[in-house]
Amino acid sequence: MLNITKLENQIIDYIKKNIPERLTHTLSVRDIAMGLASHYKVDEKKVSLAALCHDIGRVYSREDMLSLLKKSGKEYPSFYNRNILHAYVGVIIAQNEFNINDEEILLAIKNHTVGKVGMGMLEKIIYVSDYIEPTRNIEKTEQMRVHALEDFDSVFLETIKDSLTYVLSKNDFVVYDTLELYNSLVINKNTL
Ligand SMILES: [Fe+2]
Ligand SMILES: [Fe+2]
Repeated sequence: MLNITKLENQIIDYIKKNIPERLTHTLSVRDIAMGLASHYKVDEKKVSLAALCHDIGRVYSREDMLSLLKKSGKEYPSFYNRNILHAYVGVIIAQNEFNINDEEILLAIKNHTVGKVGMGMLEKIIYVSDYIEPTRNIEKTEQMRVHALEDFDSVFLETIKDSLTYVLSKNDFVVYDTLELYNSLVINKNTL
């Protein structure tokens, strides 16, 4: 595993100072993501930065998120709630505070909540690690952490399915991107 770099330490300090309640989860996501990156030969430095930054957008309230996004000129659906918007805001913080401009890292941060058709392996690793990391204490994810090293695609599909099921159980709206991603994975699987 790679040593923590100066930049990574800066991000960890930022989390400690602004959203200390997210530190354990974030480091745990990084841990799982790094294991997957090493197993599937994905750039570990990028995976580490994406993992550390994935939830930094949570420093803001929804109102502040919306005004920051408006100012940034980036596209975002204004009806999204804070649980989704923090991914969009995380991209801005990663760019402005930490000068991270790598497209793959930024996409991994942006798409870690609702997903998107055509996600690359780095994005998928962050998406899956966010769900299966052990401090969430979701019983079934113990098995998913093992399976992720054997059949990553199945675990990715299961993660998307669980995310949709969760949203429906809360009577919340389903983001079209997630539904489209789910359909594309199922269609792909059934035509193999
Ligand atoms: Fe998140
Ligand atoms: Fe997270």
